[in-house]
Amino acid sequence: MTIEVSFELNGFGVEVDVEAHLRLLDLLRDVLGETGTKEACGEGECGACTVLVDGRAVNSCLFPAGEVGGTAVTTIEGLTGSHGQPSFIQKAFLDHGGTQCGFCAPGMIMTTVALLAENPHPTESEIRQALTGNLCRCTGYYQVVEAIQEAARAGQVARS
Ligand code: FES
Ligand code: FES
Repeated sequence: MTIEVSFELNGFGVEVDVEAHLRLLDLLRDVLGETGTKEACGEGECGACTVLVDGRAVNSCLFPAGEVGGTAVTTIEGLTGSHGQPSFIQKAFLDHGGTQCGFCAPGMIMTTVALLAENPHPTESEIRQALTGNLCRCTGYYQVVEAIQEAARAGQVARS
């Protein structure tokens, strides 16, 4: 059985028929070709597949594609500028070594977007708490935390 869904993806309208069992992760990667969102565990444990649905960070490997109708979905592709330039959050990750193999980075960065939207001045402990659903096997998290602290400072400057 298929369901017709229409939603906004990174600011553009999408209308698509999806199989009832399809995951949002598969809709994004396999149907719509947005492969920036990664799959690692596939069972809600690692956060690699994190995207925003109406500004809320969700694991797209657990989110039914049929439920995105009427929402605004943001993926890592939606953060870059019109000429592919990185957002200030992506730049902070690059500058602080917050990404090594890079597999966790899209999920980490989308979690950061949601965190800073809700709490523009997070403490280190609030950052670590926000990252509990995002696993990284490369960085040891220190660089990720530093990157998020830098992104928070950059966001502050941008708003002032
Ligand atoms: S791939 Fe979705 S949480 Fe790990
Ligand atoms: S940078 Fe490799 S898993 Fe995080």
